[in-house]
Amino acid sequence: MADMNAFMTNQEKKEIDATKKLRIGIIGTGGIAHSHMRTYLAQPDVEVVAGCDLVPGKAKAFFEEFGVEGKTDYKDHSEMIADKSLKLDAVSICTYNRQHANCAIEAMRAGIHVLLEKPFTVTVEEAAEVIKVEKETGMVLSVGFQPRFDNNMRMIKKICESGELGQIYYIQTGGGRRRGIPAGATKTTFIEDETAGIGALGDIGCYSLDMVLNAIGYPKPLTVTGYKSAFFGTDPNYVRYVNENAPWVAEKFGVDDFAAAFVRLEGGIILDFRIAWAMNINTPGDTIILGTKGGLRIPSTDCWNGSVGGPMTVYHEVSGEQVETQIPILKTPDGLWHGKIRSFLDAIKEGKPSPIPSWQILYNQAIIDGIAKSSDAGKEIEVVIPEV
Ligand SMILES: NC(=O)c1ccc[n+]([C@@H]2O[C@H](COP(=O)([O-])OP(=O)(O)OC[C@H]3O[C@@H](n4cnc5c(N)ncnc54)[C@H](O)[C@@H]3O)[C@@H](O)[C@H]2O)c1
Repeated sequence: MADMNAFMTNQEKKEIDATKKLRIGIIGTGGIAHSHMRTYLAQPDVEVVAGCDLVPGKAKAFFEEFGVEGKTDYKDHSEMIADKSLKLDAVSICTYNRQHANCAIEAMRAGIHVLLEKPFTVTVEEAAEVIKVEKETGMVLSVGFQPRFDNNMRMIKKICESGELGQIYYIQTGGGRRRGIPAGATKTTFIEDETAGIGALGDIGCYSLDMVLNAIGYPKPLTVTGYKSAFFGTDPNYVRYVNENAPWVAEKFGVDDFAAAFVRLEGGIILDFRIAWAMNINTPGDTIILGTKGGLRIPSTDCWNGSVGGPMTVYHEVSGEQVETQIPILKTPDGLWHGKIRSFLDAIKEGKPSPIPSWQILYNQAIIDGIAKSSDAGKEIEVVIPEV
């Protein structure tokens, strides 16, 4: 077999003009802001000039941790965005989910490009508002789906687009953890309704949806029968992921820890989905994509975070025989985060469209939103995608 690793890496190499530096701010300096900062610092054409956090002193300590000089004396994102002396080109929005939409809208209205962490927003209405402002202002808006830059994910898309599978009609996707609610004794921003808004459904569900929908060109979602539950997070005897001695914070748990859905997509494609932060099994199954000429199995992982759990298998027919072809795991030499940040910077510098088009993530969000609404209604619902 040809060296696919070499092939897929070479496509990416290009010169970076380091004489033209972009001025970056970071909104929210908690856990994931570290990956943003690390990756920005590895770019020759970036200066991280400011950061802010709602917790006083947190942004300052964050900048000190990296030895980066920057302005951090802001009480929130609005103060930082309003500081014209910063001359910000772009911001990374690394706040908890409930603060994604307002921060993105304010930044773009101020003429600042936005790299927004996933999930896009909490509701589909918020997502549509953000896209309206993206359109009005012409700013680059990219949403933080770094798995898209994983060569294994690209291979899934290549296989689907090649026609190898024939007409794709059924997809099973999702995954999850046996015990993996992302919360500790002190950090509860992922599990409280007022900060997170959605649980496993949005947090890791958005990745599994993006993996398969991006591969097949993001057909429009039509209807959804959704279910969500919270049996583990609300149990005071739950044994936490990071095994701290402090008791579980069940009283703070206000989101879902499991969700499942049956979604009809345009083109007669069925999407069968399930996602869990906690469950009494190791995995709810591999991702499978069924077509009229072939099928693809993508092994699940123990910790579903948008990665491929092992070599993929294509099931197909050769000369009338049923055979299987294994696709070896591909490396992504520059790393997923480099792809996520670099593609955003390049879009700004080269005046190109966003590397992660927001209309696609609107569909992703519409499915998540539809699952939550259908679960609340206890019946199948039509997926309503707001006009933007
Ligand atoms: N792409 C990934 O791999 C990945 C991984 C983890 C988390 N995330 C996403 O990143 C986001 C943040 O996750 P985290 O683990 O860093 O959470 P976190 O709770 O550790 O950090 C969020 C920080 O944002 C601050 N904040 C909230 N609203 C703000 C505002 N308006 N202005 C300034 N600061 C504000 C909070 O005070 C907090 O310090 C979440 O949406 C999460 O889904 C993405």
